[in-house]
Amino acid sequence: AGNKFQEKFRPQVHFTPPKHWMNDPNGMVYYKGEYHLFYQHYPEKSVWGPMHWGHAISTDLVHWEHMPIAIYPDSLGYIFSGSAVADYNNTSGLGTKENPPLIAFFTYHDMKAEKEGRFTEIESQAIAYSLDKGRTWTKYKGNPVVKNPGIRDFRDPKVIWHKDTKQWIMSVASGQVIKFYASPNCLDWTYLSEFGEGRGEHGGVWECPDLFPLQVSGSNEIKWVLIVNINPGGPAGGSATQYFVGDFNGKEFISAQSKTQWMDYGKDNYAGVTWSNTPDGRRILIGWMNNWEYAGEKPCIEWSGAATFPRELGLVKELDTYLLTSEPVKEIEKLYGEKVEFINQDIKGVMTISERIPFAKSPVDIRLRFDIADKTKMGFTSKYGITLKNSRGEYITVGYDNVDSFFYVDRTNAVGEVFSERFALTHIVPFIANGNYADWRIVVDKTSLEFFAADNKVVITDLYYPTEDFDIIEIFAENGKIRLGEASITELKSIWK
Ligand code: FRU
Repeated sequence: AGNKFQEKFRPQVHFTPPKHWMNDPNGMVYYKGEYHLFYQHYPEKSVWGPMHWGHAISTDLVHWEHMPIAIYPDSLGYIFSGSAVADYNNTSGLGTKENPPLIAFFTYHDMKAEKEGRFTEIESQAIAYSLDKGRTWTKYKGNPVVKNPGIRDFRDPKVIWHKDTKQWIMSVASGQVIKFYASPNCLDWTYLSEFGEGRGEHGGVWECPDLFPLQVSGSNEIKWVLIVNINPGGPAGGSATQYFVGDFNGKEFISAQSKTQWMDYGKDNYAGVTWSNTPDGRRILIGWMNNWEYAGEKPCIEWSGAATFPRELGLVKELDTYLLTSEPVKEIEKLYGEKVEFINQDIKGVMTISERIPFAKSPVDIRLRFDIADKTKMGFTSKYGITLKNSRGEYITVGYDNVDSFFYVDRTNAVGEVFSERFALTHIVPFIANGNYADWRIVVDKTSLEFFAADNKVVITDLYYPTEDFDIIEIFAENGKIRLGEASITELKSIWK
C-alpha cells in the first residue's frame, strides 16, 4: 500500500511483477475463491533469463497479491510456459478426494541439450502439484510426462478436462502445428492428432496454444476455439495471437475456417491463454502486453513486462463465419472512480476533451459513440478518432479511415527515448464499418491502450513510453465532420494503492 509501484512507466491497472522480468502469463487457474496467475519470470534481472514461474493471487481479477516464486528451474531445465488445473476427482492420485491437487503443466527447456545441439532433447512436458492451494509446489518424480517426439520446438502445454470423453486433453505447440494428447490421470499421455498444416499463418513458430468450448452468442450452439500464438508473423509485426473456430471430438480438432483470424491486431498482446475452472464458466484470457521484437529493450529498469487487462471471450456468428470477441472483464468496475460524460458534440478538426476531465488522464476507461449513419454522404469526415498526447509532441492515435475502411494506430512518435527500431510504426486493421454507430472503448493506462470496437471483434493493444504521461486527450475529424453522440471517461483507481 502507500506509494508502492509508482515508478515511471509502471502500469497502474495492469499486473506487473514486483521486480525484474516477466513474459507469458502461465498456469491460470481458479481454486477455492482465488484466481491464480503464474508467469514466466527471471527474478535476477529485467531481461529474459533462466525461467521460473512467478506467482500472484487475486480474489477479483484486478487486485493482485504477489506471492513467492512457485516453481524454480532445476537440472532438467528452465521452467517454460504452461497451464494448471484443479484435479477435483484426484484422477492423478497426487492428492486425495478431500484435498484434490492443483496440477501445473510446464515445459522443461534443457539449455545444456540446446548448447550441445541435441535439438530433439531440449523440450518436454512435465508437471508439479500443490496440496496447499497453490502455496507450495512439488515436482512430480516421473517427469517428463510427455517426451519430445523429435522436434526442436515442443512446448507450452495447455490442459483441459474434456467432459464428453471423460479425459484430460493437452495441447502442445510443436514447430508450426498443435499436437493433442489425452490422459485419464494427467500422468500418462497418449498422442491423438495434430492441427495446423496449411492452416492459418506460418510466418513464425507456433507457441502457447489453448483449446476450449464457447457458446455462440444468441444461440445454443457450442463451438471449439483453438488459440495459437505465433512469433513472428503477426499483423503488426512480431508476435501475435491467431485463432481457429471448429469442433473437437476428443480426438481431433476440425475447422472449416479458411481465413486467418487475429484475436488482437495490436503489437502488444502475446502468449495469451485462458483460466481453468472459473466459478461462473466465463472464458477469461490474459496475455503478455509486449512483443518479442523489442521486449528486452524496454526502458523499464526495476521491472519489465505487464499483463493485459483480463478479457472475457465470446463467440459470434456472422453468415458462415465465427468470430471471437474480447472485452475487459466486468470487474474493471471495481476500479471506477469519478466519471465525466457528454453528448452530441459535432467534431470538425480537433476537440480537446481532457480540459473537461477533473482527474488524471490515465488510467481511464473511455467510451465513445460516433454517429456514422451519414458515412457515405458529402461532408462526412475522411478520418476520425482519438489522440492521447503530452505537451512535448509525443502521442498515440487510434483512428478509423472512412475512405479506405480501416482502423489504424499511429505510434510513430510515442516514446521519449528510442529504444528499438521496431517500436515506432503505424499499423492498420482492414474493417468495413456499417450500421448507424461506431462504439469504441479504450482502456488507457500509463503506458498502454487496449482498444475494443466493432462489437468487440476488433481489438488493438499497443504500448507507449512517453517522456511525460499523456495528459491531453483529443477527438478529431479530418476533412469533414462527425458527431460524437455519447462519450464518457471514467477514472480508474490504481490497483496498487
Ligand atoms: C512465448 C514463449 C513460450 C515459451 C516461453 C519462454 O513467449 O516463447 O513459447 O515457453 O516464452 O519464456
